[in-house]
Amino acid sequence: MIFHRPRRNRQNEVIRSMVKETFLLPEHFIAPLFVIEGKNQIIPIKSMPGHSRLSIDELIKEAKELYSLGVKCVALFPAIDDKLKTPDAREAYNREGLNFRAIRAIKESVPGMLVMADVALDPYSSEGHDGLVDPKTGEILNDPTLDILAKQAVCEAHAGADIIGPSDMMDGRVGHIRRALDESSFQNTLIMSYTAKYASAYYGPFREALDSAPKKGDKKTYQMDPANSTEALREAELDIEEGADILMVKPGLPYLDIIYRLKEMSPIPVAAYNVSGEYAMVKAAAQNGWIDNDKVILETLTSFRRAGADIILTYFAKEAARLLNR
Ligand code: PBG
Repeated sequence: MIFHRPRRNRQNEVIRSMVKETFLLPEHFIAPLFVIEGKNQIIPIKSMPGHSRLSIDELIKEAKELYSLGVKCVALFPAIDDKLKTPDAREAYNREGLNFRAIRAIKESVPGMLVMADVALDPYSSEGHDGLVDPKTGEILNDPTLDILAKQAVCEAHAGADIIGPSDMMDGRVGHIRRALDESSFQNTLIMSYTAKYASAYYGPFREALDSAPKKGDKKTYQMDPANSTEALREAELDIEEGADILMVKPGLPYLDIIYRLKEMSPIPVAAYNVSGEYAMVKAAAQNGWIDNDKVILETLTSFRRAGADIILTYFAKEAARLLNR
């Protein structure tokens, strides 16, 4: 006799729906978008089929479409002209710069859409690093970088950004940015901290999209070692103490254990960033006919929610929202 038959709970669609533990909605997604100068520009990103760098007019169209599908937050990444990249990354807080014009345009043209703005120097730095680089030693300088990050964040809030996303991994940046925002009366601007951001090879396609790869060296002195997990708890404790509103883990799929561990300990929501390389792998296999594109997308995104992510930043946002709305 077999008394215990787990299959009884799986025998038809109705019972399966009743016992379902995890739900996935377009409202859970944040859609990352790449921005460039110009008009009517849609420049495909080779390693990210289906994604392009968009000029602001095209960016608005894309944001409107996302909103109508139920995706109500976008994260903007500007591709900065090489001529504007300098060692001190001063373009990062030029209020007429591409980043701030893009934020303003979306806030003006897509009512209700939340805008998340990235904080880090790499798109603006001629060195391709997230912090300032000591010209003699090559060291990534922590404390001198903080004021620039805070200036960038305040400019983003001025432009209308709802969520500030520090992706730079400098120590103390969340507290530094929080104080600067509050001093400029942006008490209501959220901070979603890239809490556990790993020194990952999965960022390759993103760096191609922005042409932002480090000129020298790697990011291992500030981004986390993929071998570490307890260290993520320390980062989380610091971010919470410094005033973060939401924690984030990045990359996503190879780090589901980190999402789970943070969700277990965190009194604030946890987000996952399903990064460019993860997107590229699914697309490459699907284009070869080796996997079912739609099913793999939904299974992947469901796994983030199952692991504990409240929010998912994903390049699949539009496709997945379409599938979920069907
Ligand atoms: C840079 C930044 C990176 C990503 C988001 N912000 C790349 C990096 O740290 O080199 C990667 C996102 C992705 O791969 O989708 N501050």
